[in-house]
Parts: sequence; structure tokens; C-alpha cells
Amino acid sequence: MISGFLYRTIVKPILFLFSADHVHEFFLKAGRQLGRYVFIKKFLASMWRYDSSSLEQELFNLSFKNPVGLSAGFDYNADLVEILPSIGFGFHSIGTLTHEPYAGNEPPMLGRLPKSRSLLVNKGFKNNGVKKILEGMGKKTNDALRGVSIGATNKSYPHFDAMVENLVAGFRDAECFDHFDYYELNISCPNLLNIQNLKEQLASASGLTKVLVRLQELRIKRPVFIKMPLERTPAEMKELIDAARPFPFIKGLIFSNLVKDRSNPAFDPEEIKKAGRGNFSGKPLERQSNEMLRFAYKICHERFLLIGVGGVFNGEDAYEKILSGASLVQMITGMVFMGPQQIGLINKEIGALLKRDGYHTIKQAIGARA
Ligand SMILES: Cc1cc2nc3c(=O)[nH]c(=O)nc-3n(C[C@H](O)[C@H](O)[C@H](O)COP(=O)(O)O)c2cc1C
Repeated sequence: MISGFLYRTIVKPILFLFSADHVHEFFLKAGRQLGRYVFIKKFLASMWRYDSSSLEQELFNLSFKNPVGLSAGFDYNADLVEILPSIGFGFHSIGTLTHEPYAGNEPPMLGRLPKSRSLLVNKGFKNNGVKKILEGMGKKTNDALRGVSIGATNKSYPHFDAMVENLVAGFRDAECFDHFDYYELNISCPNLLNIQNLKEQLASASGLTKVLVRLQELRIKRPVFIKMPLERTPAEMKELIDAARPFPFIKGLIFSNLVKDRSNPAFDPEEIKKAGRGNFSGKPLERQSNEMLRFAYKICHERFLLIGVGGVFNGEDAYEKILSGASLVQMITGMVFMGPQQIGLINKEIGALLKRDGYHTIKQAIGARA
């Protein structure tokens, strides 16, 4: 595709001359402006969007036009909700949003590791707060579903229960709005500096149970998907999954959040030595998050919808997650490295891979290699 070639050979080398924080802010502003014009959205959709009935799924009464979504963290203040469907996403997650606004960790909040095909993330839930964002968000379109990721405000708490209450308050705020389709419950952000003193963790069986008991009281109707941590043993992951099982409003699990472990062999040794404070996205997640996906598929695919995220750069990567048990996939880093045209291309490649393997619909392929 010509736009992919132009992005990788001209646009990306220029963008990568500037700090990742500035480029990200520029894209959010530009995307917000462009999303105001119907003819621009139509033009982009005609160039990049790929639709096919083999990619469509009906899940929890929601129509997913394709299985590729924007993962939480890129559009944290819902600037891109108008433009994202045009570039080909089937769904996108806004946030992570929190009950109170947070200005972000001390910059730099982003960095690049091109050889490792990874991004350094040190945002700590920079966002304007659930209420403000959802008040300002326009009506839904039919082309892509919208989700809201919610976490605990990044601040100091006297004890764990106070953090749980803050998280629940974020959901309570969001329940006042109806122009989105699903929730993500983020229990796994690795760069919340202010809560590291707390002994109990959200991503532990007991911590998660406390959150879910309180959330249950809100009688949430929209599906809630839990964003899982990456670096856990199968036994620890099973404990977390078992903690979520008894709560019917939890419909799915997302594997996984960022890499913390700097000894991960997928990093280029020189790049990782120089990396500043934060955690990592992209290719270094891929192997482990796919393993977790296959593990989860084996033990709970009848109970939970599974969503795969981490290191999706092309159709093969996305298809591997589908064969490993994911009904849907999400991505950020692959779009940053390959360009926005890549979303449509990934969908087209998934369609071709399904055909190659004799599947008529995506449903038939889910978990085939788990
Ligand atoms: C810039 C950036 C910010 C992120 N912020 C969040 C966040 O706020 N909430 C969240 O659940 N995940 C966050 N993540 C993690 C991603 O949602 C995703 O799980 C991870 O990046 C792996 O996908 P990828 O390899 O396609 O980027 C962030 C990732 C990036 C790159």
C-alpha cells in the first residue's frame, strides 16, 4: 500500500526526530480537528477501512464490524472518537480515565525503542477525569464501538479500601452517560507511582474481589472487561481469573498490560540500558501475552470473552492471537510504528488468512491453536 510506504519512509523518520510526547499531542490535536469534517472522514474510510462479513461478530448484543480495536492509553481524553472509525478500527477504548483528573507523571511520559519495536510509557493515567471527558464526548456512530477504561486516580491513599472507593466512584460517574458501549476495568497499570506503598494490590485475588463486590452494587448493564497484568505465573493468573468468575457483569478478560521486566530477552540490550522510568509496550509483550491467552482459553473460554493485545504489527500477529483464543485484538504500538493505514491492512490480512485456512467466519478460528 502506497500510504504505508510513505508513512514508513518519509512521515515516520520526520516524526521520530521530535519527542514522542510532542508527536502524540500533535496527533491528538490533528485527529480532533480532522474528525469534525465529514468529507475527510469519508475520504479516509474510502482509502483505509476494510469491511468484510467474515470479520463481523455479534457479542453481548454489540455488533463488532471487525476484530481490531485501539487499546486503552492512546486516546486518553477521547480526542479521536470521531476519526478512529474512519481509519478502520472496529472498536476503541478511551482512557484510562479516573474519578479525579491527573496531569501525568513527570515528563518524559513516552519514549521509543525502535530496535525492540516498543514504546516506553510513563503516563500514570494522565487524563481530565471521567465526568469532564464523558460530558464532552459526542454521540456514537454506527461504524465502531466505544469503550471506556477506568482505573483508580493516581494519588496517595491512606489504605487500600480508599483506592477501591475511588475506582468505584469513577464507574459511578461513567454510569451517568450512555454514549459508549463497554467498560474496561484497569487493575494492572504498572506506573502508578503514588500507590506503591499500599500492601494490597488491585491485581491480586483478594484485591480484585473487593473491587468487584463494590462494583456489583452499581448493577452495571454494559459488559465489563478486565485488563490483566502481564508478568504472572499461570497459578497466579488462575487465581485472578477465579476471583472474577462469580461476577456475572464481568464478561471478558484482556491480555495484557505493559512489560515491567527489563531482562525480557525481546529488548535490544543497548536500548533497554538507556531507557528512562516507565514500562514497555509492543513486541516484548507478544510471546508472554499470547501464552497467557492460550492458558486462559484452556481454563475459562466458556465463561469469558478473551481479548488479545501486545505486539500486533500485522495480520499474522493478530491472527495468531485469534488462533490462541482471542475473539478481539487491540493495538497501539503497531499503529505508531507502521502507520494508521495498517488497521485496514490487518483486517484484510486476517480475512485472507481465514480463507487460506478454510474458515468462513472469524468465530470458527478462535482458539484453534490454543
Ligand atoms: C502510550 C501508551 C499508553 C498506555 N496507557 C494505558 C492505559 O492508560 N490503560 C491501559 O489499560 N493500558 C495502557 N497501555 C497499554 C496498552 O493498552 C496495551 O496493553 C499495550 O501497549 C500492548 O499493546 P501494543 O503492543 O499494541 O501497544 C498504554 C500503552 C501505550 C503504548
